[in-house]
Amino acid sequence: MSRLVIRDAAQVVVFPEGPIRGPGFDDVRLIENATITCEDGVIVSIGEEEPAETDDVIDATGCTVIPGFVDCHTHLPFYGWRADEDAARLSGVRYQDIHGKEGGIFRSARLLAEASDEDVLAFSQQLATSMLHRGTTTLELKSGYGLSIEAELRQLRLARLLADAIPQEVSVTCLIHAVPNGRSAGEYVGEVCDVLLPKAVEEGLIDAVDIYVETIAFELEHAARVAHAAEALSLRKKVHAEQLADNQTGSFAARWGFASADHLNHLSNDGIADLCESDTAAVLLPGATFTLRQEKKPPARALLDGGAIVALGTDLNPGTSPIHSMPVVITLACRLYGLRPVEALAAATANAAHVLGFADRGRIAVGAKADLVLLDLPSIDHIAYRPDEDPVVGVICGVEGHTGNGQEVVGPDENP
Ligand code: NIG
Ligand code: FE
Repeated sequence: MSRLVIRDAAQVVVFPEGPIRGPGFDDVRLIENATITCEDGVIVSIGEEEPAETDDVIDATGCTVIPGFVDCHTHLPFYGWRADEDAARLSGVRYQDIHGKEGGIFRSARLLAEASDEDVLAFSQQLATSMLHRGTTTLELKSGYGLSIEAELRQLRLARLLADAIPQEVSVTCLIHAVPNGRSAGEYVGEVCDVLLPKAVEEGLIDAVDIYVETIAFELEHAARVAHAAEALSLRKKVHAEQLADNQTGSFAARWGFASADHLNHLSNDGIADLCESDTAAVLLPGATFTLRQEKKPPARALLDGGAIVALGTDLNPGTSPIHSMPVVITLACRLYGLRPVEALAAATANAAHVLGFADRGRIAVGAKADLVLLDLPSIDHIAYRPDEDPVVGVICGVEGHTGNGQEVVGPDENP
């Protein structure tokens, strides 16, 4: 048995069970001067227990201890950046106009196709490791830069190889991202539903599906077809919704029992009401809003006040959100969308874990997985308040027998 004691934390943030929404925020507790004891990667006590001589001890004096971040929307694994497209956007070109035969998603598909498996894994693993050092202990991986059945399968297999190489646990999503050149949307979606998804399930590659509903990609009728296929295969359902225009995808996701609707910059009042009444999470991705300098923000305040499940992710991708740090995402969510610090933290941990279907993490509680982050801050209010300070000084992620990859402890002495 391995025991780890994190002692004398200035503040420990304790969330109630399940996703935190509406009045659930009243049950959040901030405990001062607390010690957390973990056994074999599971939290066994929160309080004042004295460590035994044989215990590993981390002195958390002056630190705030929070659950490990769960990044519930990333586009890893991918290969290469697209900074020149960003520079073009800063000169006035629209994202929609870059997206085409050679640019945007199609460019990333070409970069991925031309790179060796080793190069893709090295590039992506370096990012995942950097995410760990910034406190991300669970993350989503997606395909969507393959754009053919074989190339999507390759990207999904690379996602599984990446998962084997990192200490974080992952959830893998098959993303139907763009209409391949020379194909019709319906034809590609049909092939995805009939061939790609069953094959990916048979190989044990995927946990969820996602589709990009937008004028430059797919329509709701395609999302409905994908939803049916996902249900038949017992996969979770996610959707890129209303990033560039109001197209009722938020309401659609709520009615069809999707796990999440992501982006939501153009969500209408009907969409707000439908999401608030449902168990479909609103996943907000302020890194993309920031990068694209979008004036239209999702109605975050209305969603939160109406009792929706709100979660956060980086949307890490080379086109619209080259951002991999959840503390930065929390800062952007507070500054651009008006989330309160405790709402942003719940969205980046407990609620994001709920989106990915992990019931055992995202909160500090007896019996929960001991994925923990030490912030060199006296309280969570400092994360967005001092955004240019990297606050993460310790990360505890996984344990042998639990993730299979061994426990990773980046202690407060080893500045990550
Ligand atoms: O979530 N909007 C669609 N997909 C990504 C961008 C992908 C890309 O440009 O490569 C997003 O923002
Ligand atoms: Fe995305």
